[in-house]
Amino acid sequence: RARVAVLISGRGSNMAALLYAAKSGNCPYEIALVAANDPDAAGLILAKAEGVPVFAQSHKGMKRGEFDVILDREIRNAGADYVALAGYMRLLSPEFVGKWKDRILNIHPSLLPRYKGLDTHERAIKAGDTVSGCTVHLVTAELDDGPVLGQTEVAILPGDTSDTLAARILFAEHQLYSRVLSDYVSRELDPDWLVEKVGELALALPETH
Ligand code: GAR
Repeated sequence: RARVAVLISGRGSNMAALLYAAKSGNCPYEIALVAANDPDAAGLILAKAEGVPVFAQSHKGMKRGEFDVILDREIRNAGADYVALAGYMRLLSPEFVGKWKDRILNIHPSLLPRYKGLDTHERAIKAGDTVSGCTVHLVTAELDDGPVLGQTEVAILPGDTSDTLAARILFAEHQLYSRVLSDYVSRELDPDWLVEKVGELALALPETH
């Protein structure tokens, strides 16, 4: 099974959803590590109780790159092949993203490219939108950017507040993330994907004749 490190900063409900999906039958990934940039992140309690290795260190007083070197080391030591951001509220350094190219996924509570950043639900309601949702995407060095792997639309109801909308979108997040992560880590077993990769590799080789 593919090994996934989950990065959190707080509650960790998406981490829990990924973890319980991994514990159910036939899941193509397992959780190798839960790492937090805040030792008080509530999600750590659940991860520990479930017997998942955890790493927690505050990033305070450290440069972004410096902290990410430590994170990178911990993730590699855990033998992870993928990184899943789950409410990880800190931009990763370009060096880290470069090392894990196409191997970092993030979940964001809006229909990207709409509403990158914070306060997504409040902004969607204020704009008079009738639909919002959540997105799983590959991570690049830009905030909430990168190719979209999956989205779920969620209706905005009359009278919704950012809290009621957030709660409903969170349900959709929990369903979406493990499904998209499973499909994504399975792609390397797909013969078409392999053929494509071998083709790219052949094109990149220098001609020797
Ligand atoms: C989730 O709604 C997630 O989409 C969002 O933070 C929440 C974390 O909840 N992430 C972002 O806004 C990232 N830009 P959780 O800790 O319970 O998973």
